[in-house]
Amino acid sequence: MTPQNLSQTALLLELEPTVEANLNRHLTTAKEWFPHEYVPWSLGTDFDGVLGGEKWTPEQSKLSDVARTSLIVNLLTEDNLPSYHHEIAVHFGRDGAWGTWVHRWTAEEGRHGAAIRDYLTVTRAVDPIALERARMDHMEVGFTNEYGDLGLIHSIAYVSFQELATRVSHRNTGRYSGDPVCEQLLARIALDENLHMVFYRDLLGAAFDLAPDLAMRAVCDVVKTFQMPGAGMENFARKSVQIAKAGIYDLRIHHDEVLTPVLRNLKVLERTGLSGEGERSREELVGFLSELDQAATRFTERRDALNAKRAAR
Ligand SMILES: [Fe+2]
Ligand SMILES: [Fe+2]
Repeated sequence: MTPQNLSQTALLLELEPTVEANLNRHLTTAKEWFPHEYVPWSLGTDFDGVLGGEKWTPEQSKLSDVARTSLIVNLLTEDNLPSYHHEIAVHFGRDGAWGTWVHRWTAEEGRHGAAIRDYLTVTRAVDPIALERARMDHMEVGFTNEYGDLGLIHSIAYVSFQELATRVSHRNTGRYSGDPVCEQLLARIALDENLHMVFYRDLLGAAFDLAPDLAMRAVCDVVKTFQMPGAGMENFARKSVQIAKAGIYDLRIHHDEVLTPVLRNLKVLERTGLSGEGERSREELVGFLSELDQAATRFTERRDALNAKRAAR
């Protein structure tokens, strides 16, 4: 075993009691829920093809173009669960409390894609053939944790922000949809994502106590290069611009509602016990956050100006 591997193993072992405590808290906090209760089955009718029902046409969808895009992005993101499971099983392991968490998390995530797909199909909100083809394409690309080689704490930092990003994205997509049934379902899914975030965030806190310099480096790297888990899907850039223009998920939201709450909760910017290197990482992080904040303001101003112009026309 190389020293690099050894230190990762040592970290896994050192963090295991926190994983166990957080897992137990999670199991007592998480409420059982049933995806089938959230799907308006009475609206369903057969499709053309095998059962000879009615072909899907765009007029059948009650959702706006942007709402559809956002729901598809969220669903395809959830669909890649086998790849996410693979990545966390490899990096967190399948033994002990880590393994119990990995499987529990996977089981909870498993209902998100199923429920959103059921809703979209039953309500004829999206083209089911295009959706299935997009799922195939997306899953065939898979997902790779780009922080895997950088070590365990990088992976923990990524999932801390990613779970919150997913929570916000689901919640705002639901609100934007204008359909109370959709909103109710996505709000329920967002609750799951929130508990996932809490689990990882607290674990990241323990990593800060254990290895402050490493944790600061990890947070700085992840914040600077953060990408949504679905970033690998086809036309993601174009879709995320649409989603940002609609205010469902934009830089302002990312800065204020995803990065800031995690950093504030862990008191990342006030951490003591850092070496010179850790201090430099923190300064780099602070510098990046202020640039991001400015970019967010520029984006919002441009968007508001464009919207005002459009409204005046
Ligand atoms: Fe999810
Ligand atoms: Fe999640």
